[in-house]
Amino acid sequence: MRILLIVSGSVAAFKALVFVRAARAAGREVRAILTAGGARFVTREALAAITGQPVHEDLWAAEESIGHIRLARWPDQVVVAPASANMLARMAHGLTTDLASTVLLATRAPVLVAPAMNPAMWEHPATQANAALLRARGVVFAGPVSGAMAEPESGPGRFIEPADLLAAISGPKPLAGRHALVTSGPTHEPIDPVRYIANRSSGKQGHAIAAALAALGARVTLVSGPVHQPDPVGVTVTRVETARDMLAACEAALPADILVAAAAVADWRSAAEAGQKMKKEPGAGAPILTMALNPDILATLSRHAIRPRLVVGFAAETEHVVEHATAKRLRKGCDWIVANDVSGDVMGGAENTVHLVTATGVEDWPRLPKEEVARRLAARIAEEFSA
Ligand code: C5P
Repeated sequence: MRILLIVSGSVAAFKALVFVRAARAAGREVRAILTAGGARFVTREALAAITGQPVHEDLWAAEESIGHIRLARWPDQVVVAPASANMLARMAHGLTTDLASTVLLATRAPVLVAPAMNPAMWEHPATQANAALLRARGVVFAGPVSGAMAEPESGPGRFIEPADLLAAISGPKPLAGRHALVTSGPTHEPIDPVRYIANRSSGKQGHAIAAALAALGARVTLVSGPVHQPDPVGVTVTRVETARDMLAACEAALPADILVAAAAVADWRSAAEAGQKMKKEPGAGAPILTMALNPDILATLSRHAIRPRLVVGFAAETEHVVEHATAKRLRKGCDWIVANDVSGDVMGGAENTVHLVTATGVEDWPRLPKEEVARRLAARIAEEFSA
């Protein structure tokens, strides 16, 4: 879905950036128009960086590049967020005073507005009349909601939460009412209070899967090891360190309809975690680390008394990828295995080449950005639940 985002003047404009991040994580393409008022609150550079596209600001500059009519034809959905009182007034009366208002008059795409303004301005009869006119013409309103404002005041006029804004525009919700549990990232297994055993997992793929499932309407619990990924918008995140903590957090999150175990869980931990930092004693040799086996979270949950209906595991392999994954599916007791070849730069990288191993066969997917792998996997899961 292509979203044309119009950012007008409100102190809530920074939340439009959060919305863009969530929308892109859910696989949407976003371009932005920044009004003069909007530019007082967020910069063109910030919007360009977060949309990954040049930002459109000036009507006449737009004529030299793609033109307001082509810009108006581009999106599947126009989102005005935040929408100021002035923006609503111009939309209601068809005033074309800048690029944003001209595109709004020229587009045939559905329009959704997320107003943000002082409660007195929102409740003013002029604004209410404009909103009624726009609603009558099919413009959809997301918010405003009641709550604290930037000024020490509260009431209706607050910008809707970015996750709720995304939920309001994104198409069908085939996973509505389903609970999905996703594991992501590495685990850290302590050796002593300052040292640990870890691996190169970044959490990119698992976090993208959590975001993609949420975009399809699932309630998502993400149990993540230590990563530098931002929390996906609209997802409940539980942070853990060790494999044992991850298993406990997963069991606490049950029941779930779906489990996607994307975490790179450490197979072993130090058998006896030292209570104090281990000292390098002069003359003494190197210590010998004795390892203990960690619980297998995927295998445990696959055979759990309240097993999720669909259990998806991952297989990171460096050779015989599909053979190993097929064997792993049976050994772990899960329904599907997403097999990836990690012999190259997959761990920590932006792209992934995967094979989906199910009871009925193997699907080979092309090399794709991890967000796209996530989107396709979420769509396949949704298919399973609609069957
Ligand atoms: O056995 P292996 O680590 O190759 O299996 C990978 C799959 O099992 C992944 O889905 C991973 O999240 C999961 N796993 C787990 N608990 C472990 C080890 C792996 O859930 N202790």
